[in-house]
Amino acid sequence: MSPGDTPAQEVRIERDGPVALLIVDRPRQRNALARETMTALGAAVARLAEMDDVRCVVVAGGGDCFIAGGDLRDLQALTTAEAGADMARTMQAALDALAALPVPVIAAVDAFAIGGGAEVALAADLRVLAQDAWLAFRQADFAVSTAWGGSWRLARLVGPARALHLLGTGERIGAAEALRLGLADEIAGLGERALDHARALAHRLARRPAHVLRTMKRLVEAAPLPAPEHRALEARLFGETWGHPAHFQAVDRFLERTRPAVAEPEPGPLAGLFLVLEGIDGAGTTTQARLLKRWLERRGEPVHTTAEPSGGPIGTLLRQALGGRVVGRDGQRLCPESIALLFAADRFDHLRTEVEPHLRAGTHVLCDRYDHSSLAYQGIENDARWVSNLNAAARRPDLVLFLDVDPAIASRRRAHRGGTPEIYEVDALQVRIAEAYRDMERWRPSDRVLRIDGNASPRAVQRACRAAIEALLDRRRALPRGSVL
Ligand code: TYD
Repeated sequence: MSPGDTPAQEVRIERDGPVALLIVDRPRQRNALARETMTALGAAVARLAEMDDVRCVVVAGGGDCFIAGGDLRDLQALTTAEAGADMARTMQAALDALAALPVPVIAAVDAFAIGGGAEVALAADLRVLAQDAWLAFRQADFAVSTAWGGSWRLARLVGPARALHLLGTGERIGAAEALRLGLADEIAGLGERALDHARALAHRLARRPAHVLRTMKRLVEAAPLPAPEHRALEARLFGETWGHPAHFQAVDRFLERTRPAVAEPEPGPLAGLFLVLEGIDGAGTTTQARLLKRWLERRGEPVHTTAEPSGGPIGTLLRQALGGRVVGRDGQRLCPESIALLFAADRFDHLRTEVEPHLRAGTHVLCDRYDHSSLAYQGIENDARWVSNLNAAARRPDLVLFLDVDPAIASRRRAHRGGTPEIYEVDALQVRIAEAYRDMERWRPSDRVLRIDGNASPRAVQRACRAAIEALLDRRRALPRGSVL
């Protein structure tokens, strides 16, 4: 450990949108695991298991290699058979928990994974190797067996005979050989880091609906079950995915795409980014939109800010209805169905007349609320599936920044702001709307949504928003003109 390092810092979780990186960072020891690192690894995996918004995990070593096994200098302190067995059990529990995460786990192997390091790599669902990386089960060189579940995992992957061969010889397994044996699933490009390649793969997987990825992992893991039991499980889990709104939306999109095309539009300039801010009343979306506009302009990015309800005729009518100035013929507030329909109508008018022309011209559009608001607000007083379908054909944003704020804090902010409360600005309703927001993925599983802790200071929220937009801008720069991200 270098001076000032704590074991907790030696195992880090970094977030990259829906992807979490789990990094064992002891580069001076080539990321070999000391006893405290093992405990920290177990704790980090437990934290990952709590992160509901993670869709894929990448495990990597700090610096430029994967993990060189156990830290032999530190492990010298274990002088008895029992102490060795205890250490084995600690790591087995940490790696079993890693393997049991409900989302795919990818090991990014740069340079090498030796001994216990190779066992860590095997605990992942998938392995990406750099072109010059290798694995070696060097345990026998130190006169010990595997300890962290490695022999079991190796035998499952390559069969018992090949496993015994690799464990007995301790020979280096290069990337091409690892691919041939099924120990590697993808090899990074020439000169490309396995970590970068694995991150890209993780993002590819993370674009899938989370519940589908989790189901796939469960089914693959259940493969050792006898066929009749597995069929029963598959039929049940398949049924859940079939009945999910995401399935019907995906089929609708497919049927829409296979309709005969009218005419290919001329490629224009690079399309602008469609960025949406969402959250309950008092979440701070309007403040953040204003700050983001200034920031983008300072960077020379053309940007147009807008909001829903829009400033168009239907939006204006809606604002009057929300303020209680337009009522139904019975003198009561408009019925929930009419409000949901008006929001959807306003949205399509807004898209056609304001949002899409700007995007086509290459201007970014920053929109304060979009159809996630309809799902959260109108979804709680109507059939949410009906509301979802009403808005299903609305253009999808490139990024949704969801400011997740405690309803009690938002309530205080609204009180501080003053003014006459609108129809939804009632504390009990806002608590339900906040819950509905957290269920957003159910209705829009393919949207790129970044949940930001809206209880933090405006500056901290702004930093998180900027980092996400920055990443999109970088990706967009790499695209040819006429592309839509
Ligand atoms: P808001 O965006 O907070 O703007 P302002 O502070 O200027 O009033 O108000 C819009 C309200 O409209 C807000 O309570 C959420 C609601 N709303 C819906 O109920 N459904 C929707 O689809 C949208 C876009 C907004």
